[in-house]
Amino acid sequence: KRPFIIDCDPGIDDAVAIFLAASCDAFDIRAITSVAGNVDIDLTTRNALDLCHVVGLDTIVARGAARPMMVEPKISVGAHGATGLGTVVLERSPQAEDGRHAWDVIYDEAVKAAGELEIIAMGPLTNLGILLTKYPDAPRYIKKITIMGGSRVYGNSCAYGEYNVWADPLASDIVFRSDIPMAMVGLETIFRAKLTSSDWEDLFTEKNHISEITREILRHKTERGEGIMDRITARSDDPSPLLCDCMTVACVVDPSIAKFERRYVCVETAEGPSRGRTIIDWQNRSGHSRNCEVAVSVDRAGFKAVMQKMFAHYSK
Ligand code: BDR
Ligand code: CA
Repeated sequence: KRPFIIDCDPGIDDAVAIFLAASCDAFDIRAITSVAGNVDIDLTTRNALDLCHVVGLDTIVARGAARPMMVEPKISVGAHGATGLGTVVLERSPQAEDGRHAWDVIYDEAVKAAGELEIIAMGPLTNLGILLTKYPDAPRYIKKITIMGGSRVYGNSCAYGEYNVWADPLASDIVFRSDIPMAMVGLETIFRAKLTSSDWEDLFTEKNHISEITREILRHKTERGEGIMDRITARSDDPSPLLCDCMTVACVVDPSIAKFERRYVCVETAEGPSRGRTIIDWQNRSGHSRNCEVAVSVDRAGFKAVMQKMFAHYSK
């Protein structure tokens, strides 16, 4: 089994992403680490515990950073509801969080996995920025980081900033330039492969507690009009919203659904309108070695098939 750590800020799309990761037989989830982002650190940690509980995932849950490394905190007010899970209310997990900081757990697990550990990062990259600052030898032990974050052209938090990268530009830049094998699944790529309302209706014919929670999450996001903002790139009027983190996990579960191009990527950290933008050197003008596999397309049918398998798993 492949050892993983999931670093996240649940967050409603983080929630479905955790359902997907937990359903995958090939994954050995060694820990879930929380970070402040969609909601504050108390809530993302609580939600991580409760989400593990709802899918019966027995793993470490460790609390991460309450604020970014440098800039002011930017909680994404409202989009994920007051608790971070929209209108979904989960049973409280009896499990306690681990006593260690997220970055210490990641380091310990990385050393333990002796170079095999993979990380999926789907919140602001603060925990990983702290990890790499505190443990300069960490890259030696990490096989790969897949990031839901960044964008090729435009942002969702400001003109160019995608939320996870923009919320902590310094940490993000440290991560991209760490020399750890890296992949990023950014905004436009996700927009273009989003599932339509009728795709979701097909998927929800599989009825179980996880498909019910996912349906409620989509209802909440659709009502907020979150599917509409991407009309131009999604080339669709369909109101169904995006599940960015979930699609990113799907690309790890089945990499054949995505096409990647290897490019040099860093992050603008200087103050100004571009702060938090991923700078992707498409034509290798900088001459830097290409440090990141950038997802350029995802196959919608392939993504749907991954989701179908997930819902079937929870009916077993
Ligand atoms: C990312 O920002 C968050 O709101 C989502 O959970 C996702 O990780 C999308 O930009
Ligand atoms: Ca997230």
